[in-house]
Amino acid sequence: MKLAGGSTLLVASHNPGKVREIAELLAAHGVGVHGAAELGLEEPEETGATFAENAALKARAAAAASGLVALADDSGLSVTALAGAPGIYSARWAGPKKDFAVAMARVERELQGKGARDPSAKFVCALALAAPSGETEIFEGEVHGRLVFPPRGDRGFGYDPIFVADGLHETFGEIEPTRKHAISHRARAFEKFARAVFAP
Ligand code: IMP
Repeated sequence: MKLAGGSTLLVASHNPGKVREIAELLAAHGVGVHGAAELGLEEPEETGATFAENAALKARAAAAASGLVALADDSGLSVTALAGAPGIYSARWAGPKKDFAVAMARVERELQGKGARDPSAKFVCALALAAPSGETEIFEGEVHGRLVFPPRGDRGFGYDPIFVADGLHETFGEIEPTRKHAISHRARAFEKFARAVFAP
């Protein structure tokens, strides 16, 4: 799928932070953005078994309801010694109060419970671009690293304070946001997306 400058894309997210971040990335390509909340669209239930499936079902539902090309993302932390958990349940591990101190403590507890010595983990981001016809393309990005406890730094969000990317010593919660954005799973997925839809 190709997107022309001057076109408008629907970002299938009710998270204003996500919509803003995506709008900034797309503005550089002359593409405008609407958010799902702005158009009064409902959020579908995330019933997929993978990041890609969840991103695709959000993008397809939004494209079908709006008649616009829609972009959705689904992301999370995948811990090797926990067989990929929390994975697609990353947000849900934080509970109804979205408390990531609780979620990070659960990761630590589950690793200890398993006597796990392997601290390796990765963040994964799947972006899905869907047309109103249902045609869908997926772009995935990952950043590999290891987990550290206790959590360090208050600059990022979610699981950032326990994640140290390969080649770094500080957590994603400690480094400058611009450094994180240069290497993050989301940035890598976006690079693939931009190469596919904007390249001549
Ligand atoms: P989603 O909004 O359903 O895709 O949930 C993504 C969840 O994964 C977030 O709530 C965070 O817990 C976690 N997550 C995704 N990306 C990051 C990141 O860059 N840093 C820290 N946590 C992340």
